[in-house]
Amino acid sequence: MKILVTGGAGFIASHVTDAYLAAGHDVVVLDNLYTGKLENLNPGCRFIEMDIRDRSLEKFMALEKFDVVNHHAAQVSVPASVQDPVQDLEVNGQGTLNLMQSSAKAGVGRFIFISSGGAIYGEQEVLPIKEETWPKPESPYAVHKMLGETYLPFFRDNYGMEYVVLRYANIYGPRQAPHAEAGVVAIFTEALLAKKDCTVYRFEEQPKGMVRDYLYVGDAARANLLALEKGQGQTVNLGTEVATHTLDLLRAVGKACGVKPVEQFGPARKGDLKRSLLECSLAQKALGWQAETDLDKGLEMTVQWYRNKA
Ligand SMILES: NC(=O)c1ccc[n+]([C@@H]2O[C@H](COP(=O)([O-])OP(=O)(O)OC[C@H]3O[C@@H](n4cnc5c(N)ncnc54)[C@H](O)[C@@H]3O)[C@@H](O)[C@H]2O)c1
Repeated sequence: MKILVTGGAGFIASHVTDAYLAAGHDVVVLDNLYTGKLENLNPGCRFIEMDIRDRSLEKFMALEKFDVVNHHAAQVSVPASVQDPVQDLEVNGQGTLNLMQSSAKAGVGRFIFISSGGAIYGEQEVLPIKEETWPKPESPYAVHKMLGETYLPFFRDNYGMEYVVLRYANIYGPRQAPHAEAGVVAIFTEALLAKKDCTVYRFEEQPKGMVRDYLYVGDAARANLLALEKGQGQTVNLGTEVATHTLDLLRAVGKACGVKPVEQFGPARKGDLKRSLLECSLAQKALGWQAETDLDKGLEMTVQWYRNKA
């Protein structure tokens, strides 16, 4: 297949690109290098430096005739979206719509849209969270991810562009930069390898910190590979269904780094969710996917990568 991967110079989509190339597909990466890095690019792909907001995208898409578009490019920082909601709308709303419209008009057969299970559901009483749970977006980033999801049926019904939405839990692994939506593994790993202390942010009633669902990036890439052919108009959670407190994560990163971390704490920051955990049975049904890498194994591979990079 001929596939466009947007955001492919970034953390997650560079792994998706690797998986697509390894499976023999023809991959073009489109990225404006806002947070992405040229060093993340697989030499086997073709790279186009372009912004998803660029209106000449329509012409580019018409010329290239992709079979599938995999859309990872985004403004990924929740705090940045809180500071400047209009800028977030421009990239994650308008840019995404520009890409969807250009893709649909060019006859793209399938659009894989990357959304956020952590951000969209917000704070929920019942865990793990199922896809049909009524979302509670609490940041402009979450609102604009939802906006992207909401456009997809329109393009399927009017242009025949099939789609699948992947709502990620907290993804971690090699090449993650600490700035991103869920950069805590990268933050802890870089700090511990540099023999610096880490802070666990927590609410008073949660002495071990927040609860999160940490999914290894290789597992996320495998879901994107399956989504090339499977899934029809579904919105699918991708996580591990394993709840991990931030303090336990710090200890596990410490174990993988071979150090005993100093445990220091700070108050929860504005907008921090107390608990997030995704229910993933639909991923099994729709894509034949389930997480395979447990936290210790994923952290071992991640730490190894950061060590080699240093
Ligand atoms: N990291 C996570 O745990 C997580 C969780 C949920 C959802 N996501 C989503 O996964 C996707 C990838 O995130 P990531 O963690 O790899 O972040 P990342 O910052 O490494 O990747 C984002 C990529 O998009 C590119 N980009 C940004 N604005 C662009 C624009 N206007 N035009 C073209 N390219 C642009 C960046 O340069 C970068 O390469 C995003 O859509 C993000 O919202 C990530």
